[in-house]
Amino acid sequence: MSASSKTQDTLIADDAFHGAAPGVLPTMSAGGQRAYFSCWDIHAYYGESYIVQGVSFDVREGEIIALLGRNGAGKTSTLRSLARVGSPALTHGEIWLDHKPLHEMKAHEAARAGIGLVPEDRRIIQGLTVEENLKLAQIAPPHGWSLERIYELFPRLGERREQEGTTLSGGEQQMLAISRALARDVKLLLLDEPYEGLAPVIVQEIEKTLEQIKSLGMTTIIVEQNAIAALHLADRAIILDMGQVVFDGTAQDVLDNADLRQQYLAI
Ligand SMILES: Nc1ncnc2c1ncn2[C@@H]1O[C@H](COP(=O)(O)OP(=O)(O)OP(=O)(O)O)[C@@H](O)[C@H]1O
Ligand SMILES: [Mg+2]
Repeated sequence: MSASSKTQDTLIADDAFHGAAPGVLPTMSAGGQRAYFSCWDIHAYYGESYIVQGVSFDVREGEIIALLGRNGAGKTSTLRSLARVGSPALTHGEIWLDHKPLHEMKAHEAARAGIGLVPEDRRIIQGLTVEENLKLAQIAPPHGWSLERIYELFPRLGERREQEGTTLSGGEQQMLAISRALARDVKLLLLDEPYEGLAPVIVQEIEKTLEQIKSLGMTTIIVEQNAIAALHLADRAIILDMGQVVFDGTAQDVLDNADLRQQYLAI
């Protein structure tokens, strides 16, 4: 069975879809193709704990999505499920990126297929310089940005290329973590709280860089406690609550809807 006919069958058969408000089902283009990225009715568990409870959404190429929700809503778990990290375990659902079935892959295969997860703790590798951290990301093809291009986007990293990565400031470590993803051939960038723990002036700096990455057409999902900042950057917003999608609309809709923000984001 071809990938596209399997997708069709799933769409037709999936009357059991639940967990999302009306109007949040992934859409198909006129040609019957899925969006650039889509996840469909994904469910994931940490052991017995049922956390991701039927999440579905799609992302168009070049779009920036703000994935929002209260503490414990399941944002990190959703990103980890999409990146196919072993925990939480994905037990049901489909994940497609540029026609590739990520739900059938392990994390390293999903990474090769173009998922670039930048986790909250940034995972800079100890004992390696900035440049070695970047070169390690390029150890296997497919390659993304050249080091020269990365240093153009982040001149501070270029100046510190010989410095050990873990001795960088928090903001610089975040730049390095994003750069490591760009050094691979990333098709979908997943950012988990990129502003976490950073001073406002550094947040502004990272924001500017993300604007630049956006203008280059990088498809991105950003999870942020600083929802307003994320909404200003994003085209669309998806709100999670208790592991389910409760809103999928434009970022402007969320900025304009104080009740919605109060109910699900407490802001
Ligand atoms: N490794 C784990 N084992 C068991 N339960 C976990 C694990 N990690 C997270 N959880 C639980 O899963 C739920 C969702 O957590 P998750 O980290 O995905 O939320 P989040 O929306 O990212 O929250 P935050 O805004 O605090 O980062 C929470 O109830 C959390 O306690
Ligand atoms: Mg989280």
